[in-house]
Amino acid sequence: MSTKLLEGKKGIIFGALDNRSIAWKVAEKAHEHGAQFTLTNTAMALRMGTLNELGEQTNSPIIAADATDMDELTALYQQSMEALGGKIDFVLHSIGMSPNVRKKRAYTDLNYAWLQKTMDISALSFHKVMQAGYQLDAFNEWASVLGLSYIAAQRTFPGYGDMADAKSTLESIARSFGYYLGKEKKVRVNTISQSPTITSAGSGIKGFDGFFNYAEKLSPLGNADADSCADYCVVMFSDLSRMVTMQNLFHDGGFSSTGVSDVIMDLVMGDQG
Ligand SMILES: NC(=O)c1ccc[n+]([C@@H]2O[C@H](COP(=O)([O-])OP(=O)(O)OC[C@H]3O[C@@H](n4cnc5c(N)ncnc54)[C@H](O)[C@@H]3O)[C@@H](O)[C@H]2O)c1
Repeated sequence: MSTKLLEGKKGIIFGALDNRSIAWKVAEKAHEHGAQFTLTNTAMALRMGTLNELGEQTNSPIIAADATDMDELTALYQQSMEALGGKIDFVLHSIGMSPNVRKKRAYTDLNYAWLQKTMDISALSFHKVMQAGYQLDAFNEWASVLGLSYIAAQRTFPGYGDMADAKSTLESIARSFGYYLGKEKKVRVNTISQSPTITSAGSGIKGFDGFFNYAEKLSPLGNADADSCADYCVVMFSDLSRMVTMQNLFHDGGFSSTGVSDVIMDLVMGDQG
């Protein structure tokens, strides 16, 4: 039996920006596991040029698309199916951006035009990615669609700002669209809720180092890094996880189930010890 979990599978990977991006690691691992895929990002991100390197490394065509634009998404599916020679078996949505977070606007003083941008880019684009594929009938049966989330969707992390609301919506969209894609096309949809990870998007969050260090000290296994997230994505794209759908899957070294750890207790009690 082949140990290549994605042999013969065709996919689309959104969101590789540079070699720290979670999507970059997913592309490397998916390639190792025998998948063929197209890589996509905004025209602006492509102008940075680093994606060409990944395209060459994984032998993948690169197609520009703004994930908030239905026409560009439709063209992306059409071009991907043509380049790959068939329908799509997996999609990674690894996209997030908040102008409020980027420009350090407090949650109590949000710019609402920017909030709409946050929601459109970080959450509604997940719906658009699925709707474009659904309407084109672009998915093979048992295809797997994944989005990336963060635990601030369920619990408050000051500094994560309006991204928390976007992630809650993202997780809800996975359940809602997962129903229709499951029933009508046997396609599954999940989100992976990942540990704080050092990437361009991650380090843009105010207090990111605090989130990262706190999670590292609380999680029994420590923080999950981008490489291990990529391993999990490969499993979720593979046939080994074919009955898993409409779930938010924590990939966080146990953080989400831990109330307190000895290390945190020692830190809190330090003054009295
Ligand atoms: N880094 C973390 O700590 C962390 C933790 C949990 C979840 N996540 C999530 O993982 C995903 C990937 O983030 P990352 O940490 O790899 O950072 P990243 O900055 O490398 O990736 C974000 C990507 O979104 C793309 N993007 C922005 N606007 C877009 C648009 N309109 N259309 C298409 N693409 C667009 C960017 O070009 C970039 O490639 C995001 O959803 C992020 O919220 C990250």
